[in-house]
Amino acid sequence: MFRDDFVWGVASSAYQVEGRDPEDGCGKNIWDTFAEEGRILDGKDAYTACDHMHRYKEDYKLMKLLGIKAYRFSMSWARILPEGTGKVNEKAIAMYRDMILSMKENGIEPYITMYHWEFPQALQDKGGWLNEDVIQWFGEYAKVVAENFSDICEYFITLNEPECFVGLGHLSGVHAPGLKLPYKDVFKIAHNALRAHGQAVINLRKYASRPIKVGYAPTCGMAYPATDSPEDIEAARKTLFGFHQPMDNWTWNVAWFNDPVFLGKYPEEGLKKFAEYLPEITDEDMKLISQPLDFMGQNIYNGYMMRQGEDGEPEYVDREAGAAKTAAGWPVTPECFYYGVKFLYERYHLPLYITENGMSCHDDVSLDGRVHDPNRQNFLDLYISALQRANDDGADVRGYFLWTFLDNFEWDKGYTERFGIVYVDFKTQKRIVKDSAFWYQKIIESNGREL
Ligand code: NOJ
Repeated sequence: MFRDDFVWGVASSAYQVEGRDPEDGCGKNIWDTFAEEGRILDGKDAYTACDHMHRYKEDYKLMKLLGIKAYRFSMSWARILPEGTGKVNEKAIAMYRDMILSMKENGIEPYITMYHWEFPQALQDKGGWLNEDVIQWFGEYAKVVAENFSDICEYFITLNEPECFVGLGHLSGVHAPGLKLPYKDVFKIAHNALRAHGQAVINLRKYASRPIKVGYAPTCGMAYPATDSPEDIEAARKTLFGFHQPMDNWTWNVAWFNDPVFLGKYPEEGLKKFAEYLPEITDEDMKLISQPLDFMGQNIYNGYMMRQGEDGEPEYVDREAGAAKTAAGWPVTPECFYYGVKFLYERYHLPLYITENGMSCHDDVSLDGRVHDPNRQNFLDLYISALQRANDDGADVRGYFLWTFLDNFEWDKGYTERFGIVYVDFKTQKRIVKDSAFWYQKIIESNGREL
């Protein structure tokens, strides 16, 4: 059984939902540039997105109606600091304060993510994550966030999915800023991002007006065993924290982005494998990176199956032909919630929140005017049940944030992926509650016990 105070939430990010207003004083970020360069599918941009910045009051009322208890949302760095550092945009502070107060009026606990991928363009022009000054820049942003919001918000998350903004943004280049840099630079970017995380933790706590809770939200492809045999379980565990990725996929390495933060050291195997590409890593860096945290966030969507091969080494196992997939083509693998959560808890031993999980479906409005999404309901049912099993087996699971409330701007995929439990008609901005949202409402009401 989940704890009585289990946090049932939904998650989103600023750029994917907010939209813009000519008067908002918001600075430009790397995704604006990426869109201007025509690098988003169908030539789209996020200028309107879900127009949440003008509609958040109604959106929170809808959340309340559905019984949602918490909202993980992000703040836009360049909305708050249009040049990335220096002058604060007071309109942004006023908007985010009003958003938080309005969430609270609706009984919704705010969880602020500081950075969900929209790096200020002014700082990108100075080298972005590759410039070591980013540690001070991000620290300054953390100070502004703490000073302006810690009186009304208790929970803060520094970085969302560094694996993605480091790798997709700077190695494969499919995300903004769209760079394909040499490995050496990408390792430096990853190291700088982790140091910036540490500096943000220090500053959030230092400038907060009261004690706050701080966490970090990486992601991972999760390894899970083909059977419940101890050998297969060990094969999955070993692979999850091992270094099996080819170099052009190295940024998906789980231990590289988690061990420094939670254990205070880079994994030995990685230090050896990556030696020729690594920047200087000092004891001081590791101290900075491993600032104590109150919780671990994890965004988990899917995993891959492993078993012990005849030679005693882990080997990949193919899923059956026709096994379930999401509209994005991602495998539906609820096992990753059971095993993955246990593996993470065993290794890092911090209270754990699933900071994102959900699926994109080919949702459409039916003749009855409703949006029926049985696949999503089934997905959520399978995943949350597996999470409950991991919890019952002793993992300290504190909350679950469903990705996402509203269909929204899915980065380079534009508006082609619908992940919401609320359908958005992007022409009219009309919201239609999908069947899965009513299902989630029942799960929340019964604290998962109905599963
Ligand atoms: C992870 C990201 O944090 C979020 O921004 C994205 O929309 C979802 N996954 C779905 O791809």
